[in-house]
Amino acid sequence: MAYTIKVNGKALTADVEGDTPLLWVLRDTLGMRGTKFGCGMALCGACTVHIDGKATRSCTLPVSAVGEKAVTTIEAMSADPVGQKVQAAWMELDVPQCGYCQAGQIMSACALLGRTPRPDTGQIYAAMAGNICRCGCYNRIRSAIRIAAGMEEEGAGHVA
Ligand code: FES
Ligand code: FES
Repeated sequence: MAYTIKVNGKALTADVEGDTPLLWVLRDTLGMRGTKFGCGMALCGACTVHIDGKATRSCTLPVSAVGEKAVTTIEAMSADPVGQKVQAAWMELDVPQCGYCQAGQIMSACALLGRTPRPDTGQIYAAMAGNICRCGCYNRIRSAIRIAAGMEEEGAGHVA
């Protein structure tokens, strides 16, 4: 069956089964490979996209459940004001190690800052809790979020 979904502001059509995870539609059908597959069980956060601005695991979301909602992926973040600040902070701190989790991390960070422009530490921890980084870049990720939010981060460049 053909499903038309709105991805990064464009209506795109995929001829797939309704229970196909959005992640597969994005990557395999629409050729948008920025969103990553990690666990396929909503446990790691690698596949995080925004659904109407909310961080959502695309590996367990059937395409038939997307409906009219706006899907936003990492590919759109360089043109998004919050995404630009987050990506600049990521580069300033050289956040990634292997990089595999980073699209999902950035999508969760952008969703957080989109609704809470100056999050406190507890809000940062809560928003990022579902994004696993096997390389252990958590301190740099949290520091970069604070920098993207315009909050001072003393010695941020030296955190592990
Ligand atoms: S691949 Fe979706 S949460 Fe791990
Ligand atoms: S940078 Fe390697 S898994 Fe996060």
